[in-house]
Amino acid sequence: MRIPKKRLRSGFEMPVFGIGTWKVGGGAVRDPLNDDKKDIDAIKWAVAMGVSHIDTAEIYADGYAEILVGKAVRGVKRERLFIVSKVAPQNLTYDGIISSARGSIGRLGVKYLDLYLIHAPNPGIPMRESMRAMDSLMEQGLIRNIGVSNFAPGRLEEAQSHTKNRIVANQVHYNLIVREAERKGVLRHCQDNDIMLIAYRPVELGRLARPGIPLLDGMAGKYGKSQAQIAINWLISQPSVVTLSKTSNINHLMENLGAVGWGMENSDVETLRASFPGQQAVSDVAPLM
Ligand SMILES: NC(=O)c1ccc[n+]([C@@H]2O[C@H](COP(=O)([O-])OP(=O)(O)OC[C@H]3O[C@@H](n4cnc5c(N)ncnc54)[C@H](OP(=O)(O)O)[C@@H]3O)[C@@H](O)[C@H]2O)c1
Repeated sequence: MRIPKKRLRSGFEMPVFGIGTWKVGGGAVRDPLNDDKKDIDAIKWAVAMGVSHIDTAEIYADGYAEILVGKAVRGVKRERLFIVSKVAPQNLTYDGIISSARGSIGRLGVKYLDLYLIHAPNPGIPMRESMRAMDSLMEQGLIRNIGVSNFAPGRLEEAQSHTKNRIVANQVHYNLIVREAERKGVLRHCQDNDIMLIAYRPVELGRLARPGIPLLDGMAGKYGKSQAQIAINWLISQPSVVTLSKTSNINHLMENLGAVGWGMENSDVETLRASFPGQQAVSDVAPLM
C-alpha cells in the first residue's frame, strides 16, 4: 500500500506512519536469547507492505536493533526508505555525535540517515557544540535532516539558534492518554514553526489497542475501525503530526496500517482531545526538558 506523506512548508516531508524498533533485539541491552529472525521478518514484512519510515537508535539493544534493521533492509533500494536514528544524550559532545552517527550508519549498513535526532537534551553539554556536530554531519552528507526528541519548545528554540540548518522534527511521547505535548506547548510550537511532531508510542504499548474505553469503543464503532486504528488516526488527523508504532506481529502491523488513508471528522478529533478519560499530563518515558 502507499503510505501518504506529510509535507512542511519548508519542503521537508516524511510518511505519516512508520515503524519503531524499541525492544527489537533486546531492551536497553542486547538479549542473547532474542528471536532475531522474528524481528528481521517483521521489518521485512513492513517494508514489503509499503512502510518506509523505520525509527531506531544507538541505545536500542545497545546498537543491536540497528544491526537487525540493517539486515532487514539489505537489498532494498535506499531511496525507498526513510531511516531515522538517534544519538544518546550522553554522547552529545562534538566528537561524541560524529562518532555515534558513524557507528549507527555502519551498523545499519547505509551511506546516510534521512533524519538524525538528538534522543534527549543533556543540559551538561553545551547545545552550541552539539549543533555544530549536527551541522558537520549535514555537510559531510551523512545525514539528510536534523531533528530532536523529548525537547520542550524553549530548548528546541535554543537548539535552532545554534544551527544554520532547519530542525525539521521533534519526536515526543504523544497519544490519546499522554498529553504532555499539548500541555507544554510542543504541538502548538511545531504547528506554528513548521516542524514535524513525530508522536511515539501511539497505542501506549497496547493499552489503546483493545476494547474497554467507552469513548474509544464508540469511535471505533462509528468509523468501523479498531481501537488502535482510531488511536493512530487521531494523531495523524492533526496538522504537522506523524507517528510510528512498533510491532513484531503481522496482524498488528496490518491493523495499524489500516489507520492511514482515511480521516476522522474534526469534531471527533476534538472530542477525543477534550474528553478522553485518564489523560496524563507528563510522559512516564521521558518528560520533556
Ligand atoms: N524518542 C524516544 O525517547 C522514544 C521513546 C519510546 C519509543 N520511541 C520510538 O517509538 C516507537 C513506538 O513506540 P513504542 O514501541 O514504545 O510504543 P507503541 O508503538 O505504542 O507500542 C508498541 C507495543 O504495542 C504493541 N502493539 C502495537 N500495535 C498493536 C496493535 N495493533 N494491537 C495490539 N498491540 C499492539 C506491540 O506489541 P506486538 O509487537 O506484540 O504487536 C508493542 O508491544 C518505538 O519502538 C521507538 O522506535 C522513541
